[in-house]
Amino acid sequence: MKSFMIQGAKIIATGSAIPSFKLSNNDISKIVQTSDEWITTRTGIQERRLLTGADQSINDLAVLASKNALDKISMHPSEIDLIILATSSPNDLFGSASKIQFEIGATNAVAFDLTAACSGFVLGLVTAFQFLQTGAYRNTLIIGADVLSKWVDWSDRSTCILFGDAAGAAILQSCPTSNNSILNFQLDTDGKYSNHLSILYQHKSDILPVANVYQGYFKYISMNGKEVYKFAVSQVPLSILKCLRSLRISVKDVDWLLLHQANERILTAVADKLSISKSKIISNLSKYGNTSAASIPLALDEAVKEKKIIHNDIVVIAGFGAGLTWGTVIIRWQDLS
Ligand code: COA
Repeated sequence: MKSFMIQGAKIIATGSAIPSFKLSNNDISKIVQTSDEWITTRTGIQERRLLTGADQSINDLAVLASKNALDKISMHPSEIDLIILATSSPNDLFGSASKIQFEIGATNAVAFDLTAACSGFVLGLVTAFQFLQTGAYRNTLIIGADVLSKWVDWSDRSTCILFGDAAGAAILQSCPTSNNSILNFQLDTDGKYSNHLSILYQHKSDILPVANVYQGYFKYISMNGKEVYKFAVSQVPLSILKCLRSLRISVKDVDWLLLHQANERILTAVADKLSISKSKIISNLSKYGNTSAASIPLALDEAVKEKKIIHNDIVVIAGFGAGLTWGTVIIRWQDLS
């Protein structure tokens, strides 16, 4: 991150949306050979929400989460300048952000999708921050939304137990540098290991008769759970430490650790490696599972609503996942008033 700063930025509202349908571990044990005990012990997940009904899509969740954030501060949607939809499960491969722009009535906003799996919200936040720092825009809406239930192989017990559907949103507004809340970030990618977690495109055997052109489809989620686990618990603490050190903030001064909600054991292992007390871990994955790009803004929205996160708290946010991508953003939380 460059040391000069034209404008600062702060999150002025958060919102979230979850489907009403709950699928418990016991329900899953009727689909694949597993048990509540196994899933709870290995992951901490007890239930997840799934989007049901043929007429419901990721857009509905993203719109609800966005409206929820806008309503909290009575902001008219026309005040939004930029919408970034972080998702890996859009309703349209050309992008779903523009439909959300239309549906919420953000007529002045430019909107685009950003694909970075479970790191998507962190990358979206940092991307939006760049536009605010330069003074290009004033209000940005960052949405993390995923409906991975549509891409899970419901006969694969090693992955179908993990994921849930949700959307979370945050409105990031520019402010004087003296009030800047986004203190620093650290982003990383290692494409060498992209095969550890993917939803791959697959050719069909059909070829266009006049040319060597293939068409295909996307396969289900494939994951090497052990490798993803090792990656998360080794790289995420390093990313966080690097970010904290550059700010000369001690781990002791961290008030909240808000990690991507993948697995309770990962959250605990990262906190342990950093010597951060478990009481500082924000965790809601027992209720929602891994909601990919939605997990951080959903947990943030809940923690703010529950008044866990309060004015001046140092919040370490870190996402990690497919790509492999991982990233940290350190925030000094500022209340709206
Ligand atoms: N129920 C019961 N048994 C299961 C099971 C399930 N849902 N899933 C796997 N198993 C079995 C395996 O078949 C294996 O059996 P075997 O020893 O007879 O071969 C055994 O449990 C151990 O499997 P393993 O894959 O080694 O388990 P694990 O301790 O690594 O836990 C995960 C599996 C997926 C929970 C764990 O690897 C994990 O959480 N990884 C991170 C995944 C993640 O967070 N991905 C998203 C990142 S964004």
